[in-house]
Amino acid sequence: MKQTFIKDLANFKDQEVTLQGWVFNLRSSGKIAFLQIRDGSGFIQAIISAPDVNSQVWAEVQKLTPETSVKLTGKVAEHPKQPGVFELQVGDLKIIQIAADYPISKKEHGPEFLLDHRHLWLRSSKQWAIQRVRNTIINSIYDYLNQQGFIKIDAPILTPTACEGTTTLFQVPYFDDTAYLSQSGQLYLEAAIFAHGRVFDFGPTFRAEKSKTRRHLTEFWMMDAEAAFVEHDENLKIQEELITYVIKQVLAKNKTELAILERDEKLLEKIKPPFKRLTYQEAIKFLQSQGSNIKPGEDLGAADETWLTKDSPVPLFVEKWPQAIKAFYMKRDPENQNLVLGADLIATEGFGEIIGGSERETDYELLLNRMQQENLPIKSFKWYLDLRKYGSVPHSGFGIGLERLTAWLCGVRHVRETIPFPRLINRLTP
Ligand code: 4AD
Ligand code: MG
Repeated sequence: MKQTFIKDLANFKDQEVTLQGWVFNLRSSGKIAFLQIRDGSGFIQAIISAPDVNSQVWAEVQKLTPETSVKLTGKVAEHPKQPGVFELQVGDLKIIQIAADYPISKKEHGPEFLLDHRHLWLRSSKQWAIQRVRNTIINSIYDYLNQQGFIKIDAPILTPTACEGTTTLFQVPYFDDTAYLSQSGQLYLEAAIFAHGRVFDFGPTFRAEKSKTRRHLTEFWMMDAEAAFVEHDENLKIQEELITYVIKQVLAKNKTELAILERDEKLLEKIKPPFKRLTYQEAIKFLQSQGSNIKPGEDLGAADETWLTKDSPVPLFVEKWPQAIKAFYMKRDPENQNLVLGADLIATEGFGEIIGGSERETDYELLLNRMQQENLPIKSFKWYLDLRKYGSVPHSGFGIGLERLTAWLCGVRHVRETIPFPRLINRLTP
């Protein structure tokens, strides 16, 4: 039998349907019971009135507990006072399994308790909404990039070297050798542009970050994009267009979810190109004028990022960073040898950096020197250096942190809620 889902009930007005799902809330007043039913696709109120059902069904209703799984048959009725809202007037109810005493209740639970029960917490409406938005973000990134001629190239997870600095590498024994979990697929995508021009990957990445902030996970999902013949300026334009497209899709497809999350949609509606741009140097000057004690040459802290976008309705690119604090592969700014053509995209409302990207160094000698300065194991990077020998071209790319983007669009402060099973410095379970 084809299943009927709550999200489609508008098509079944005044008809009888059978739904399968879970009772996530219930109250009963004498001869009438109100059940909140969840089926994965949405939520609906089911009403059971004792005089309208046989006594066996009413006896089953008395056994219901939160999270009991059920099969319900009834008529779809439009709410008398809220057009577009539907209820189920139940004629028949079968219990699939009576749920044991459910640990998560309506009362406030601390974050550690909820994270310990993440396998159950995922069912809560807010957590449900976050994962639905995440799903839209993933799909719209695929859509947009495919439309723009990027194809997906899967980068390896087990790698011989670092991509983003050696201090945050996870080591894995690899037979008689050592492997590292990928920090970003970027270097492999750079190889693939010579075959495909425009490519992206989208997968889990790992950083042994010692930081316990609301923006850091040890395992997170990154989309890296890389394009041949794209220089710094166009790289930023691709990012603006992509982010704007993703937001438009979320606003169109996740109305219910954004309402559950109480997300201020007006702030998202304002996000359109062009995004603001500041050079690193301008950013430092601005921050100092605002009372920050940041010094030239230092990386931006979370508070600095919040300051930078405080009054801006659109995200902000901070570009042209000191090369000393950026990755080895970034192209030197032809106008200033100490700077690189890298940019971080800082989200609005204090959500901080969501994208890191740059034009890539294409000169063999400059790249080699830079890698030597950083004491990188040149032998393991031979293949990467080869790319600068056989038809090297200008190229650029960027990486989006999926959890940070999801947190921003959902208005959720901590990235640990935006990934189904977060991995943090102090958490590996469930
Ligand atoms: O800025 P990052 O380190 O850039 C790179 O890895 C480049 N190789 C990407 C590229 O050019 N293809 O990381 C990219 C993004 C960050 O902007 C942030 O959104 C996210 O990945 N990110 C993290 N998200 C959660 N937890 C962490 N520990 C993260 N580290 C980076
Ligand atoms: Mg970064």
